[in-house]
Amino acid sequence: MTKASVSAPSRRQLLAGAAAAGALLPFGARVAAASDQRLVAAPARLAIVGGNHPETEVWAYNGTVPGPLLRVRRGTKLKVTLENHAADTTSLHWHGIRLPNAMDGVPGLTQKPVGRGESFVYEFEAKDSGTFWYHPHWKSYEQVERGLYGALIVEEDHPPVVDRDVLWVLDDWRLTSEAKIAGDFGSIFDMSHAGRLGNTVTVNGKIAEEFAVRAGERIRLRLLNVANARIFGLRFGALAPQLIATDGHAIAPHALEGNRVVLGPGMRADLILDCGGKPGERVTITDDFYPRQAYRLLDVVYGAEPLRAKPPETPFALGAPALPEPKLAEAERHDIVFGGGMMGRLSEAEFQGRKRSMREIFMQHRMAWAVNGRVLAEHDHAPMLTLKQGRSYILAMENDTAWHHPIHLHGHTFQVIARDGAKTARTEWRDTVLMNPRERVDIAFVADNPGDWMFHCHVLEHQAGGMMAVMRVA
Ligand code: C2O
Ligand code: CU
Repeated sequence: MTKASVSAPSRRQLLAGAAAAGALLPFGARVAAASDQRLVAAPARLAIVGGNHPETEVWAYNGTVPGPLLRVRRGTKLKVTLENHAADTTSLHWHGIRLPNAMDGVPGLTQKPVGRGESFVYEFEAKDSGTFWYHPHWKSYEQVERGLYGALIVEEDHPPVVDRDVLWVLDDWRLTSEAKIAGDFGSIFDMSHAGRLGNTVTVNGKIAEEFAVRAGERIRLRLLNVANARIFGLRFGALAPQLIATDGHAIAPHALEGNRVVLGPGMRADLILDCGGKPGERVTITDDFYPRQAYRLLDVVYGAEPLRAKPPETPFALGAPALPEPKLAEAERHDIVFGGGMMGRLSEAEFQGRKRSMREIFMQHRMAWAVNGRVLAEHDHAPMLTLKQGRSYILAMENDTAWHHPIHLHGHTFQVIARDGAKTARTEWRDTVLMNPRERVDIAFVADNPGDWMFHCHVLEHQAGGMMAVMRVA
């Protein structure tokens, strides 16, 4: 494994000579505790790379990337006013939150786009505890890449006792050697391949070097992947964390499969890190999801003073999620096939009401993906399926492409019940599930939230490239 390894220019090349190396970063993001919030989307200049590199022009909420951490108790009624002073129309989508359709933040589907100088008030109750996030749903492939994103943490009624509750927002930027965000948003190459993979990985908006811990400490680590396209596969070595939540929802605590946590764009994982090492020790956290581009994310560094002799042994399982359990025996089943992309075998699809060859769709309309043989343009919102409110559904999904896709459903939380025909061991709750190339994944949920809901790939270039559909619940 090399240290510098994401595609050129690598973060280490970019970092050459930076004074940032070795600095301890303050990992606490700004916390906004009140339920009445104002988020102002506007351009800002921030030291993303750090050291003697120039600041990066970003778009930010309230001048920070990530935007303010919204942290509330479960059951809180949130009121968030979005003010748009960015250079484009925008909106706010509350990723993973089960809220009224009108608050879902999808321009053209659930609300009018929020133009420059305009504002919109989002009001909803945080009914589920967990780690969630917010981001625009308008040209997301550009706006999220520019820095418009933030986390929303909804606290459990009885959270496990830990010494620290820490959030790492993982992002991947494509920067030029002057630390500018490369302007090739939504390029046709990125759209038809793996999406916009960058060259600079940040944790909470900065290149991370070290994360300080104390011997005997117990940390709840919340991971959130806000990258357009990068999938993270983090290895924690001797720290051997336990996974306690997927996309915010409780799962019976267990060790990571292969000691690695895999997070596609949009996905979250909550871990318990028991720091069982000795003062002065270091543990390197690596990301080897793309094996030939493995790199060191950061080092966990034990301080000189232990906190206690060893980490606590108290239980840390989260309470069972209060989500509607799908009734599998009577669930209605729908097949969903994702097709297209480079090296895809889909030859034709429907686009804007007419069957065309994928070649024509790609060359003339710059779209590359289809759901059930249909390529959805960003502002085409005809529903693919109409689901009966209150009924249980199984979506039997097939990834008939050569690429990974994190598939996200709005307004609902689903259970992952099978992979390639085999029952999953833990039927975890998610709002975004990562499908491997050619993999089949079955999900089940109760369609209990009326409205028109987006269902799309969270590789934002794939979404823009047609890998989208609308589910109507009525
Ligand atoms: Cu996180 Cu439709 O999005
Ligand atoms: Cu995709």
